[in-house]
Amino acid sequence: MKHYYNIKDTANFKSLVERGVRMRKGEEQDHSMGEGKTLVIVFFSPSLRTRISTHKAGLNLGMQVISMNAGDGYQMEFELGTIMDGNTAEHIKEASKVLSQYGDMIAVRAFPGLQSKEEDLKDRVLKGLMAYATVPIINLESCLHHPLQGLADAITIESYKKRDKPKVVLSWAPHVKALPLAVPISFAQAATAMSYEFIITHPKGHELPQELIGDAEVEYDQHKAFKGADFIYAKSWSSTVQYGKLSNDRSWIIDEAKMALTNDAGFMHCLPIRRNVVATDEVLDASTSLIYEEAGNRVHAAQSVIKELLME
Ligand code: CP
Repeated sequence: MKHYYNIKDTANFKSLVERGVRMRKGEEQDHSMGEGKTLVIVFFSPSLRTRISTHKAGLNLGMQVISMNAGDGYQMEFELGTIMDGNTAEHIKEASKVLSQYGDMIAVRAFPGLQSKEEDLKDRVLKGLMAYATVPIINLESCLHHPLQGLADAITIESYKKRDKPKVVLSWAPHVKALPLAVPISFAQAATAMSYEFIITHPKGHELPQELIGDAEVEYDQHKAFKGADFIYAKSWSSTVQYGKLSNDRSWIIDEAKMALTNDAGFMHCLPIRRNVVATDEVLDASTSLIYEEAGNRVHAAQSVIKELLME
């Protein structure tokens, strides 16, 4: 595994999940294998969970961790041969080669602009970094992928499933603003890699890019999709037809009546969550809610990936 960019191209995803489960149980600890190594973390976009969990994972493995908040205002140049006399302050080539001098691996978050689907599908920050880096790159959420979240989600399902092949439903949910596609794409890729019975339910117009999620089954009737589910994963994402536009059909909120259709399903969400918009307080605070365990598993997911990269 040269980089950890997405789940679909990660050959050993299941073994990363299995290691994460062992780490969660305290069965696999490696406090010193990262000694003398440095993890550099750069955030072009804000974070609570990803920032702290990745930092903690590096420390747990004995690494030094340096993090930088680059902010949304830091404009990168991606084209070769450009006369850089506009707003772009640094070429991705220099950024990647320079960060490679400082870190033994580089973890980066860069959200999409949500202005142009064509532009966001290029995923230029992460792909540009990977093109020029001389050390491994870890994707902390790009325009298209949030693979550490997807890994933490699979660790959570493996830890709480009551049957070998659970029915897992990814449900679109309302929000107050248009959100990126990265979390649902990575969740779909993780569910497929784990061979779960997997259904996506969303209003028409929110179809995820098929080239990224494959042949995942789509059911437009949310109530029908929830029937007999073992896990409900709630997430809002932008319309993909009117890209970047707010869709706010509040009838898609996840409430107790919908959860009652399931097989006493575990409720999942990557957080942060808008209470009583995405899901009701009763669902979030129910004994079947797994949101805090899922967030806790972010540490084990990051640690599993960093360990894999340290071993190579
Ligand atoms: N789930 C997640 O990535 O959370 P943050 O945006 O807080 O990192």
